[in-house]
Amino acid sequence: MAFGRGKVILLGEHGVVHGRPALAAGIARGVEAHARLGARDELEIDPWTMTVRPGDDGDLPRALAAALGLYATRSPVHVQARVDLPAGAGLGCSAALGVAVIGAVDEAFGIERAPAELAEASLAWERVFHGNPSGVDSAMAALGGVALFRRGEPLEPIAPRTPLRLVVADSGEPSSTKRMVEDVARQRARTPARVDKVFDGIAAIVQNGRLAIEAGDLRALGQLMTLDQALLASIMVSTAKLEEMCAAATEAGALGAKLTGAGGGGCMIALVDSDEAARAVIEALTPLAALCFEAEAGT
Ligand code: PMV
Repeated sequence: MAFGRGKVILLGEHGVVHGRPALAAGIARGVEAHARLGARDELEIDPWTMTVRPGDDGDLPRALAAALGLYATRSPVHVQARVDLPAGAGLGCSAALGVAVIGAVDEAFGIERAPAELAEASLAWERVFHGNPSGVDSAMAALGGVALFRRGEPLEPIAPRTPLRLVVADSGEPSSTKRMVEDVARQRARTPARVDKVFDGIAAIVQNGRLAIEAGDLRALGQLMTLDQALLASIMVSTAKLEEMCAAATEAGALGAKLTGAGGGGCMIALVDSDEAARAVIEALTPLAALCFEAEAGT
């Protein structure tokens, strides 16, 4: 059985596509996959009740073909995956699926790949969905933990001084990472100085966030999250619904809140420091959210 973790970006999305650092964390929810030799190449995905084959139309069959293209000679495989993440919601569902599928096929053929190599290999899958992925989703799906990620560099694991408790809520608005990343790239082409200044601001927030996590200063981390959200809104990747959810979370006692992932819909995260705050934030977000759950960053 192979597992690809879901992830949250604590700080730094979008800047990370353009060479700035990001802080990300694996979460316990993800995708499990199992592969066995079969009559033909096939990927069955539960609970989506979907079976895809390389050569069929669509991104999933193309991603499967890219993943299976990593193996030179082999017998046909039947892969069974179980997804426990909302798709297209900023929690790295496609990367988790890619890591789980390749991990499962590796197991079926007795291939041993270190987690960092698995992350690298799964980029072939991820590129089909995201065009120009920074690689943060694939790295977190394979390696987990809490880490500083910078494109093209090894993941830098970070040891939080205190557990990072989050409430994750899905706005229910569908979001396309590819479209959001392209939209930000277009803004940067039009007004490079403005957008690069925003990315530099986000990079400074990430470096301070790292210090706050290492020092166990949750109050500072929460403030940095809220600040990051304002910068993300300035490059127009937030939505009215995400803003409403972030405000509801902080009013209910969260230390900070922001969108996570590409934005334009999808999920937001709120940092909490007690059972009481977690309950209050979940209560405030549940009526607004398609899905709301507590997650510890890095588990
Ligand atoms: O929407 P997600 O979970 O794929 O996160 C995307 C994060 C971005 O920084 C917007 C894109 C990337 O490739 O890093």
